[in-house]
Amino acid sequence: QKTDIGLIGLAVMGENLALNMADKGWHVSVYNRTVPGVEEGVVERFTNGRAKGKTIEGYTEIPDFVESISTPRKIMMMVRAGNAVDELMEQLFPYLSPGDILIDGGNSNYEDTNRRVALAEQKGFRFVGAGVSGGEEGALNGASIMPGGSVTAWDEVKPILQSIAARAADGTPCCDWIGPAGSGHFVKMIHNGIEYGDMQLIAEAYWVMKNLLQLDNEEMASVFAHWNEGKLRSYLIEITANILRHKDKAGGYLIDKILDTAGQKGTGKWSVINAMELGMPLGLIATAVFERSLSAQKNLREAASKQFACQRSQVLYNKPELVKDIYSALYASKLVSYAQGFAVLQKASETYGWDLDLASIARMWRGGCIIRSVFLNDIAAAFEASQKPKHLLLAPYFREEIKELLSGWKHLVAHAMKEELPVPAFSSALNYFYSLVSAKLPANMIQAQRDYFGAHTFERTDELRGQFFHENWTGHGGDTKSGTYNV
Ligand code: 6PG
Repeated sequence: QKTDIGLIGLAVMGENLALNMADKGWHVSVYNRTVPGVEEGVVERFTNGRAKGKTIEGYTEIPDFVESISTPRKIMMMVRAGNAVDELMEQLFPYLSPGDILIDGGNSNYEDTNRRVALAEQKGFRFVGAGVSGGEEGALNGASIMPGGSVTAWDEVKPILQSIAARAADGTPCCDWIGPAGSGHFVKMIHNGIEYGDMQLIAEAYWVMKNLLQLDNEEMASVFAHWNEGKLRSYLIEITANILRHKDKAGGYLIDKILDTAGQKGTGKWSVINAMELGMPLGLIATAVFERSLSAQKNLREAASKQFACQRSQVLYNKPELVKDIYSALYASKLVSYAQGFAVLQKASETYGWDLDLASIARMWRGGCIIRSVFLNDIAAAFEASQKPKHLLLAPYFREEIKELLSGWKHLVAHAMKEELPVPAFSSALNYFYSLVSAKLPANMIQAQRDYFGAHTFERTDELRGQFFHENWTGHGGDTKSGTYNV
């Protein structure tokens, strides 16, 4: 009897997804390559170990593996993003039958997925690029899954993918069809960008509490745990409280022994690059990415800190008040970050013709994924309203929230700046907000400068929009205009 699905790549995510599938009643074929001296006996170890007694069959040869799966085949690839996916596809193609479906569950770049969908379809196969979030735990017990690609594949893969997805509190699976081509991986990329933003914001909240209030780890853990009871309730806030309380074997708080240099695998950076390509502001996530980069320049920071010793006042801040301000800054900045992220999704949807359903994406992120939170319910509701908001911050609910938070948010940023304490994401968000709500900005000066030095032209407030003027600023610049295209 043939199996329901094949899974390639038995690293921790692959193993856990296979176990999750078997647990939901699916019959799974698994394959892992054998590389002498590097990856040997991986399949056997799994089938004789964690997969023992389950509806999981191991294969070490691609032809046998492919042959064991019922058609149209569904084969999920859980290998490292990049060339490994292309190489694997080339190895699989000769053994596939028309209509078979390859699913890439890695953190692939969406442009690679665009290309792979086209390639697979051109050969008569189908391809799904599925963003999978939730780490090992999610893969085993329920992830958030964002599939996109060959649209006819959805009906075929839906029962399996939805069965292994997390459920939101209302029971809906955190997995639904995203759209064509690389849209699933694009949405996962923005998920990760938002994850970077959330993590930076939480880190800043921690840093202000530690440096301006001198709270100890247990006290800070209690603040985060308390926040986790309210509107900020989320996985990342919850684990922050756990991290602060965690002691290592030597009995000390581990957080205090972890080197302050952040790593990154690239999805945050891709989010920012793609937002730039689309001409969309994504400042908070950009700040989060750049702060990771700056954190990694530890030697430089140490040298600089010796030359510019920061001055901190001896002011004793009122704890409940400052904690409330930190809460306001965190919540409001988080709102800005999601508003920016969803605006990029909207723009990508229009530009690439993906027809993304933003409410559905917000709902998919309510469970299983790293950014899961109760607040995504409010975002879904805002996008579902009959009056679609022009921007998330203009949705009535969020508009009122921001009005409440603004005073604490700006006080916190101002205090931190005076105390020479970096809060780059809180302040980036606040500056974005102030710019957003400014009907007038100083861009008239930028236009004047562009026209002055390069005849790049400008529109006038006293003429109809869409007409471009050039001024002979110096009297010897002439009347020749440059083009007016915008990137
Ligand atoms: C997820 C995560 C995951 C990502 C890690 C590490 O949704 O489960 O986004 O896909 O690989 O968060 O990312 P960085 O190494 O870039 O921090």
